[in-house]
Amino acid sequence: MISIIDTTPYTDQKPGTSGLRKKVPVFQQENYVENFIQSIFDSVAGYRGETLVIGGDGRYFNRETIQTAIRMAAANGFGRVLVGQGGILSTPAASHLIRKNRAFGGIILSASHNPGGPDEDFGIKYNVGNGGPAPEKITEAIYARSREIDRYATIDAPDIDLDKIGTSQLGEMTVEVVDPVADYADLMEKLFDFDAIRDMFAGGFRMVFDAMHAVTGPYAVEILENRLGAQPRTARNSVPLEDFGGHHPDPNLVHARDLYELMMSENAPDFGAASDGDGDRNLIIGKGIFVTPSDSLAILAANAHLAPGYSGGLKGIARSMPTSAAADRVAEKLGIGIYETPTGWKFFGNLLDAGHATICGEESAGTGSDHVREKDGLWAVLLWLNILAVRRESVLDIVTTHWATFGRNYYSRHDYEAVETDSANTLMDELRAKLSTLPGTSIDGLTIESADDFSYQDPVDGSVSANQGIRIGFVGGSRIVFRLSGTGTSGGTIRVYIERYEPDASKHDVETQKALADLIAAAEKIAGIRKHTGRSTPSVIT
Ligand code: G6P
Ligand code: ZN
Repeated sequence: MISIIDTTPYTDQKPGTSGLRKKVPVFQQENYVENFIQSIFDSVAGYRGETLVIGGDGRYFNRETIQTAIRMAAANGFGRVLVGQGGILSTPAASHLIRKNRAFGGIILSASHNPGGPDEDFGIKYNVGNGGPAPEKITEAIYARSREIDRYATIDAPDIDLDKIGTSQLGEMTVEVVDPVADYADLMEKLFDFDAIRDMFAGGFRMVFDAMHAVTGPYAVEILENRLGAQPRTARNSVPLEDFGGHHPDPNLVHARDLYELMMSENAPDFGAASDGDGDRNLIIGKGIFVTPSDSLAILAANAHLAPGYSGGLKGIARSMPTSAAADRVAEKLGIGIYETPTGWKFFGNLLDAGHATICGEESAGTGSDHVREKDGLWAVLLWLNILAVRRESVLDIVTTHWATFGRNYYSRHDYEAVETDSANTLMDELRAKLSTLPGTSIDGLTIESADDFSYQDPVDGSVSANQGIRIGFVGGSRIVFRLSGTGTSGGTIRVYIERYEPDASKHDVETQKALADLIAAAEKIAGIRKHTGRSTPSVIT
């Protein structure tokens, strides 16, 4: 029944920040998916008889790829596959399933927050046995293998019925179609005080959760409405669609505009939240206030002890380099470690495994903890709800009190999307070339104190990741970071991260872009964004 099929390599199967992401038609080329999956299997050893978790965010091409992956897993000698019903598994739920079942690893099909559909994005990501994304040495091995691959193994067998929960046999391998929500919801129930949150909802607390027609819909309905008693329709856009209803399932102020407007309106509910395509990102908005991901990380860390799963305190906090330093101030006050990693959740894995950090977060709307090895959108929402249920204050009050205590890190990210790849690279190369000349110079009264290209040495395994983003530090603690996105699928995206620390509480209610105006102007002067890209304004400001 097993067939070995001849194939020829593709040269572009290099996993990015978060797996291999391309347009659907690229994946539909002959043997493209098969080559990549076989390259994964060929790059990891010791899986014979072991368990593989498979699931995705429900986007276009999810089901076909799952059938391919299941057949290839059987032909390659896995003992068992666990697959979410309907092919659905949120990324954090997949991470949990891998851990709970001591699986060898998992294949997650998603392009996260990118749009879905026949001409839109798709992705394949491999996670290892700790439940986290494969570390760079594995993704590099996969890429190397993909450039040489000349055959793959599959099995002749009919499709598995993904919609029916139950167990079947494929050759020597067992296939279990499992409820994608139940185990994850049970885990959340262990971490958070569901009784307190239930009381809060029973007392009239209102929230809206926008699932953006992506994977978290079924999770939000079960957890928020069924288990916590939130009003029906608390979860909006809760049916996962292959094309996300034609939208970008990206929970930011552009793509979750309706939610933002609702939360800024007269009849806003108490709390608004959203998650992305695969359920690992989060957006938090209180009545009248958007909480930046960097502030959210700091506030969650400062209040985590209010939730049962974290009542013993935190071991440490980790954040990606471009994330604001708000969390650093919390770590300092708590007397715990703070770790600054390159962008990409995979860099947190070692810190969590080694017990250096409990909570992690990124400016790109990811927050999570050591309960899984991925960022986790609903987890962040539930931790917020737990804190609100205990403190019984509004989001606005909690945020402003936090700033008054720790100071405010004004923060914004300016994205220049779909820039010509060459122009984006030239901008970065020119910046890199002049880094050593910048310290000591001033731009409109702002004096540059430091300038470097961030390089990270993992404190656990000693591995070094260089060229992770250009940091310009100013006297007084302000900072500008320039980085190219690692997740885009067309052209290059330049990200400019701008941050200013303001200790004085009487100056905490300035509009963010205004508070950062001098730094924004300095960014243009330092990097020549207009000259290189022809753009005078960013495509997206968050
Ligand atoms: C994905 C990763 C995140 C990372 C983000 C950065 O979402 O899971 O860990 O922060 O990409 O994306 P970028 O486009 O900035 O490389
Ligand atoms: Zn995502």
